[in-house]
Amino acid sequence: MARVGASFACQSCGAVHSKWSGRCEACGGWNTIVEEGAPPLSGQSRRRARGRPFALEDLKSADGDPPRRVLGIDEFDRVCGGGLVPGSAILIGGDPGVGKSTLVLQALASYAKSGGRAVYISGEEAMAQVRLRAARMELGDAPVALGAATCIEDIFTTLDDGPVPGIVAIDSIQTIWTSALEAAPGTIAQVRTASLDLVRYAKSTGAAIMLVGHVTKDGQIAGPKAVEHLVDAVLYFEGERGHHFRLLRAVKNRFGATDEIGVFEMTGQGLAQVANPSALFLGDRSSLSPGTAVFAGIEGTRPLLMEMQALVAASGYGTPRRAVVGWDTGRLAMILAVLDARGGVGMSGHDVYLNVAGGLRIGEPAADLAAAAALLSSFHGCALPKDSVFFGEISLSGDIRPASQSELRLKEAAKLGFTRAVVPAGTKAQGAGIALEPVRDIAGLLALVAGERPAAPRVAMGGAR
Ligand code: TYD
Ligand code: MG
Repeated sequence: MARVGASFACQSCGAVHSKWSGRCEACGGWNTIVEEGAPPLSGQSRRRARGRPFALEDLKSADGDPPRRVLGIDEFDRVCGGGLVPGSAILIGGDPGVGKSTLVLQALASYAKSGGRAVYISGEEAMAQVRLRAARMELGDAPVALGAATCIEDIFTTLDDGPVPGIVAIDSIQTIWTSALEAAPGTIAQVRTASLDLVRYAKSTGAAIMLVGHVTKDGQIAGPKAVEHLVDAVLYFEGERGHHFRLLRAVKNRFGATDEIGVFEMTGQGLAQVANPSALFLGDRSSLSPGTAVFAGIEGTRPLLMEMQALVAASGYGTPRRAVVGWDTGRLAMILAVLDARGGVGMSGHDVYLNVAGGLRIGEPAADLAAAAALLSSFHGCALPKDSVFFGEISLSGDIRPASQSELRLKEAAKLGFTRAVVPAGTKAQGAGIALEPVRDIAGLLALVAGERPAAPRVAMGGAR
């Protein structure tokens, strides 16, 4: 019979094995399996203990919508769905050094300044380091309660001593451990148990919990993935190396929309909010070279203009190169195939590079038209009009399909001074203040990019001129 009392979990993927081995069968990771305490008893051998009854209530709450704890940082609040919900737990994941601690400290300071009780538990940095950071950001006078601790029992005892905090931040969850487990801090078992205890604390007291989690690549410590299912919202804080701006992205939110992004810029005094991200991502557009097209996109509930850059150059090698930054490689292959099959533009002898300026990542299919326009523009060596934006999905048949929320996209483009929009045929936008240039299919786009007038007439919308 198998030995009861030990289980072995892969620290990379979380798979549980009955015996130790050097390589995880599930994910193929080497040296990732660690022994972790007793497995939970199976249903048969566990006797059901008598519990206490609890009251079942109506779905409709007696006191209306739960009030939100507003942090006072608009970009952060919006990504959370309008502030933190009492009793909820959110996870803020991101690469080490991206600025998670900075963001959390700023959010807590802002919340504390507006009169809430904010507690910051640092498991990574000493008090002096946190104070130094706060002083650098000129937040030294914010009434944040600061503590340096890693043992979960100590943290709960301390929290139980004072009044219930409005927000508790734990930086980071990977440093927290419970004495109830023998596993080392940072292992999946410790991270999960500590998170579960914190979530339980939040639910029972009404405090909102912010957990900071490092994304790890080598699997030596458990990543935020291990606790995503336990928390109410998962936000990822991302930024490209070499770029100053950072994106806070909601990937799960029980109390708000996902795909919402908040844009920040890392400055010498901490993170600054970027109120008009489109202007930031477009950069200087005074001169235009072939191969750039502006995509009018939507990120969450907000329109965002992004520049797509393409370079199509004759290939020196037998196998041409395709390199994509910020977009899907498969999607590029599809667009190239459609351009070839439906438009007669073969780029099989050319290297193709596609880049989304500013380090953004586009996931929307509506970016197809802008990508195709950028590719054709580079291929033909003719720059696209400086005052045009593009959006629309390209189907395999070569047709341009309508995109959602076109009005929002057009309004944002008009706001930033664009006067023309190349859009799928049938797009309507009352009063967007921008001239529409509908294209029906790849042939229409080709005609437009190559400089001829498009077959379809230009439709001026209300407010244009
Ligand atoms: P940090 O919040 O410590 O990152 P994380 O908690 O995600 O590991 O941020 C560290 C980086 O931010 C560091 O490289 C320095 C930079 N930074 C600034 O540029 N300006 C500032 O005001 C602060 C506090 C940090
Ligand atoms: Mg940190």
